[in-house]
Amino acid sequence: MILGIMELIEAVEGRTRFFIPGQDKDSAFPPGTAPVFYNRRMELNRDATVLLLQVIHPEDYIDTMGATGVRGLRIAQECGVKVTINDRDSRAVDLISKNVAHSGIDDITVTKSDVNVLLSGHRFDAVDLDPFGTPAPFIDSAIRSARRFLMVTATDTAPLCGAHKKAGMRRYFSQPLNNEYHSETGLRTLLGFVVREALKYDIGLIPQFCFAHEHFVRLHLQIRRGVAAAERTRSSIGYIMQCPKCPSRTEQQGMLPHTEVCEYCGIPLTPVGPLWLGGIQSETLLDEMAEKAPALPLGTSRELAVLLSLCRNELPTAGFYDYHQLAKRERRSPPPMDQLLERIKALGFQATRCHYLGTGIKTTAPLPLLLQAVKGEG
Ligand SMILES: C[S@@+](CC[C@H](N)C(=O)[O-])C[C@H]1O[C@@H](n2cnc3c(N)ncnc32)[C@H](O)[C@@H]1O
Ligand SMILES: [Zn+2]
Repeated sequence: MILGIMELIEAVEGRTRFFIPGQDKDSAFPPGTAPVFYNRRMELNRDATVLLLQVIHPEDYIDTMGATGVRGLRIAQECGVKVTINDRDSRAVDLISKNVAHSGIDDITVTKSDVNVLLSGHRFDAVDLDPFGTPAPFIDSAIRSARRFLMVTATDTAPLCGAHKKAGMRRYFSQPLNNEYHSETGLRTLLGFVVREALKYDIGLIPQFCFAHEHFVRLHLQIRRGVAAAERTRSSIGYIMQCPKCPSRTEQQGMLPHTEVCEYCGIPLTPVGPLWLGGIQSETLLDEMAEKAPALPLGTSRELAVLLSLCRNELPTAGFYDYHQLAKRERRSPPPMDQLLERIKALGFQATRCHYLGTGIKTTAPLPLLLQAVKGEG
């Protein structure tokens, strides 16, 4: 058994105990130094899915890229769901098998296959993709396999957010823009791509709990079959039209962007997309998750509670403003966040924080009123 040469350490997440390979802690990225991948910093990503699956409770679930198997093990152990854990790497499959035996749970199937091969031949109620970097090569087969739920992680934030523009365009066939709200553009670009992969099968997707955090984007999506559902989903695809000179932007729905001029600068707006313009959360689901969370022993419960509350209250507009940047532009010191939100509301518009950035705000107010509120002239 290949595991013989691997140093194993016991780890705990939530209510689940499992083995991980020893890592070189002096390395810049310790998970990259072990034969099987495990990244403690993804615990919040896993906690979020464990909590969500406690609410939606799928009939079965596949962890398509298991590595140590921690994600699938936790879903089996903490959500009581029938689980399959897959990886194409022999060392990973050996470790997953050891972890499954150690867990004492009978209802876990372990497979060794390429994701696309496995998903092309088998259906699962919930399909979870957690690759190294981009999930783009696996979305098509995951959509064909998934009956009701699709979950996707992407860690290639540089291509998604426009920092590696050409790579982003090749993978997602979308034009990003690396500006102050690039983390949101990244999430909406990924979601737009996943949606386009589904639409060709007359499948619609309904975002349930989607967020960007540190170096990753995570999508939890519900699947709805049929032309009507697909058309409803398609209506949320479009472009953010961003002024290259000032912070103003508009949302433009549709397949192709049409020329639009900045109403303040009189110059053409830059299209960013195609991407997802619609809402990214189910409010009722987030409420149920927030209600369940305190009773669960989740390692990141405090952080997750903050994230849930921010996501729950965030306006569904596309593209937030970094109000510290706006204040700098106006050569003013920024007011406290709560005061700014109150000032905008007093002007008759909606305004909320957002989960992407501590100084990020979402608002329905037009730019001049927003700047007025930032300056305290509201
Ligand atoms: C980022 S790790 C998964 C981490 C794990 N889900 C967790 O939460 O700790 C990606 C895993 O996918 C596996 N993998 C990569 N490409 C694959 C493919 N085409 N088919 C099956 N497994 C693949 C790798 O061997 C690796 O173990
Ligand atoms: Zn402008």
